[in-house]
Amino acid sequence: MNGSGIKSILSSILIISILFAAAGCGKGPAAANDVFSVEEPDNDSTVIGFSQLGAESDYRSANSESIKNVFIRSMGYTLLFQDGQQKQSNQISAIRKFIQSDVDYILLSPVTESGWDTVLMEAKDADIPVILVDRTVEVEDDDLYLCHVGSDFFLEAQKACEWLKAYTDSIGMESGDVHIVDLQGTLGSSAQIGRTLGLKMAAAKYGWDVKEEVVADFTQAKGREVMRQLYSKYKDINVVYCENDNEALGAIEAIESAGRRAGSDINNRNILKRSIMVMSFDGVSPEAIDMVKQDKISCIVECNPDLGPYVRDIIDKYEEGEYPPRDIYVDEKIYSSSDRVKSVSVNDVFYDVTVLEE
Ligand code: AHR
Repeated sequence: MNGSGIKSILSSILIISILFAAAGCGKGPAAANDVFSVEEPDNDSTVIGFSQLGAESDYRSANSESIKNVFIRSMGYTLLFQDGQQKQSNQISAIRKFIQSDVDYILLSPVTESGWDTVLMEAKDADIPVILVDRTVEVEDDDLYLCHVGSDFFLEAQKACEWLKAYTDSIGMESGDVHIVDLQGTLGSSAQIGRTLGLKMAAAKYGWDVKEEVVADFTQAKGREVMRQLYSKYKDINVVYCENDNEALGAIEAIESAGRRAGSDINNRNILKRSIMVMSFDGVSPEAIDMVKQDKISCIVECNPDLGPYVRDIIDKYEEGEYPPRDIYVDEKIYSSSDRVKSVSVNDVFYDVTVLEE
């Protein structure tokens, strides 16, 4: 028997034992963060281990589905999936299980950027290519992963801030009258780092007043809770910069339960009619899109979760000997309830704004 035959048998035994554990055989019910196979494993398939960071947002669910939809058995793949439940330790132990199973590829959506050097070195030593999906990592040696495919979070923030600058100019607002709170995503995640930095830099450039940055974990419940606290502290907030749509939905609930309106009319002379503007990122759930149509969210910069086809393309080409670029960024739109800003420019590139109406 040749080496690859042995590898295939060992791999099958390990996958089956993972499945056995996930099915709870003899050990009680499988925990949500167990590694499990999406379909029956197949000996001849390409085995992909996917460590997903969690299920905190509509983006995340769509992203998991996108990967599950492309790595299917009828296309020659076995997908092992693990939900890390927002814990890096869960993700690290999933990667170790994938290495033990001798999978062909590891996909990693990392919860935070730091702390991956050791486990990625173990994957490298085992000769298993790692593809970073959605977010990225900060490691000493960039060769610890094959490539990253996902969003440019700093660019997303720049688009959002250029939109805000153009919008406030168009309604004759002075920069010093723009009072912002930042509802941050999971601290230390690429999405939070890029989006927070983009706002900070724009605020310094344009002279906006950023009152506070508070972590809201990319969830609706935390968005509501944080916005409630911030509103009771700063009555003059007129822009809520939410680092994703789920936080925005929570912030809108808090604004409305304080008797205020969420909307773009932030410079109305009549203080009673003045709204609080909500901005966010993702544009994935129909509910968030509907909020733009109702002008409760003024601007969403899209964060595209449909990364499965890109990842499959990377793997297909790699199998044929083609190396992918280090970073592959996906196209992302800008949605707004207002037609005042037709496009925004970042580093001399123009991005159209899509107006959403009911
Ligand atoms: O990494 C992408 C971000 O993570 C999305 O904007 C957010 O919704 C998610 O949880």
